[in-house]
Amino acid sequence: MNQYIMKGGNPLVGEVQISGAKNAALGILAASIMTDEDVVIDNLPDVRDINVMLEAIQEIGARVDRLDRHTVRINASTIHEVSVDDDYIRKIRASYYLIGALLGKYKSAEVPLPGGCNIGSRPIDQHLKGFRALGAKIEIERGAVVAHAIDLVGGHIYLDVVSVGATINIMMAAALAEGQTILENAAKEPHVVDVANFLNSMGANIKGAGTDIIRIRGVRSFHGTEYSIIPDQIEAGTFMCGAAVTRGDITVKNVIPKHLEAISAKLLEIGCEVIEGDDEVRVVGRPRQHSTNIKTLPYPGFPTDMQPQMAVTLALTEGTSMIAESIFENRFKYVDELTRMGGNIKVEGNVAVIDGVKGFTGAQVETPDLRAGAALVLAGLAAEGFTVVDEIGYIQRGYECFAEKLKKLGACIEIVDSEKMANKFRLKVG
Ligand code: EPZ
Repeated sequence: MNQYIMKGGNPLVGEVQISGAKNAALGILAASIMTDEDVVIDNLPDVRDINVMLEAIQEIGARVDRLDRHTVRINASTIHEVSVDDDYIRKIRASYYLIGALLGKYKSAEVPLPGGCNIGSRPIDQHLKGFRALGAKIEIERGAVVAHAIDLVGGHIYLDVVSVGATINIMMAAALAEGQTILENAAKEPHVVDVANFLNSMGANIKGAGTDIIRIRGVRSFHGTEYSIIPDQIEAGTFMCGAAVTRGDITVKNVIPKHLEAISAKLLEIGCEVIEGDDEVRVVGRPRQHSTNIKTLPYPGFPTDMQPQMAVTLALTEGTSMIAESIFENRFKYVDELTRMGGNIKVEGNVAVIDGVKGFTGAQVETPDLRAGAALVLAGLAAEGFTVVDEIGYIQRGYECFAEKLKKLGACIEIVDSEKMANKFRLKVG
C-alpha cells in the first residue's frame, strides 16, 4: 500500500494553485446526466472520487470524453440503464447524487447505498424524505435505494438536519418536477450554490441557493452547457493550516476568499498574519501562536472538513484549545495517531481538549479518513524527524497531487510503496 514518507522541519513557503472543489464537482457530474445534450465541465480536480463518479456515469451508458486532465465532455443521451451497480461507486459517499439525477430525468433509479469516509453513521433519511415529498416511491432492496415515480410534483420540504447532500440531491430531482418546490433549512455551502448555478446554466429555475430557503420551479428538460467548478475551499484551508503548522508563508491561489472567511478568522485569532487578495489568500505563520476555541457548524460556520487540520494547528500553539465537532459523531479518530507524535489531546464526547505542545516527533501513523489523513501529513511536516503516513489512498480521494504541491512549497516528502523505498528516502535526506 502506498505511503507518504516525510522529514519534518522545513517551513512551507511559496504559492500553491488550488484545484476545483471535489464536493461541488461530484454533484455537478451527477447532474450533468440530466440533459441529452453535451455538457463540458472544466476545473475538475483529478482525484479518485471524481474518476469513480465518471466511471459510474460511463457504465450506465453516458459518453465521457476527457478533453484534458481537468476538463470533461459528457453526453447522457445514450444512457441505457438507471441501475448503477459499480463496485467502486459503493466506496464513495456522493454516489447518492445519482439517485436525484436519475430520478429527476428518468423518474427511476437504483443506486447502492453510499460508502465514504467513516466519520459517523451518515444516514440518507433526509434525501429519501425529500424524494418521497416529490411523489417518488422509495424502497431499500439488496443494499440499494430503489426509487420510482409516475410523476414528480413539487412540494414544501423542511429538512430536519442541515444536510449538504440532501439539499443538492433534492434540488436536482425537484428541478425537473412539475410545479414549485420550497426547500427549507437547506445547506448553504459554496458547493451547494455551485450545483444550483450549474443546474440553472442547463435551464433550471432555482432561486435562493446559499440561503436556508431554496425555491425550485420545475422545467420540462435541460439543454447542454459549459461550466467551470469553483475552487476547493477545503484544499485551500488545508494549505493555509500548513503555513501555520510549519511557521511558513503560503499563498493559496485561484480561490474565493469569501469561502475561506471562517478559516482565515481562526488563523488570525491564533496570531497568524492573513492577507486577502481578489483570488488569493496569504497566510504567514508566527513562531508564537496561541490557543483558541472552535465549534464546527454548517456554512458559513467553521467547516467540519477543516476540523482535523485545525486540531493539528492548535496542538502546536501555546495554551489550551477546545474543538467541538457538531456535525459528525466520529471525527476524532486521528487523535490517537497524533498522540504517537507527541500531541496532548483528550477527547470527551464530541469535544477535543487540546493542550498545546512545543513540537511533534515523527512516527508511523495511519490515515483514518480523508481530512484526518491530510492533517497527519501537516503534523509530519512540522515534526522533528521522519513520519510515515499509511493508507494514503484516502487522502488521494480528495487532494490532487498533494505530495507534489507540498514539495513545491519546500516539503521534504515522497510517496513510497515499500520499506526499501522508505529507507532510500531516509538515506537520501539524511
Ligand atoms: C458532505 O457530506 C461532504 N461530502 C462532506 O465532506 C462534508 O463533511 C459534509 O457534507 C458536511 O459539510 C460530499 O459532499 C461528498 P451532510 P454529506 O449530509 O452530504 C446528517 C469530505 O471530507 N444527515 O451535510 O454526507 C449527517 O449524519 C467529506 O470531503 C442525516 O442525519 O454531509 C451529518 O451528521 C467528508 N440525514 C449531518 O447531517 C441525512 O439524510 C451533515 O451531513 C443526511 C445527513
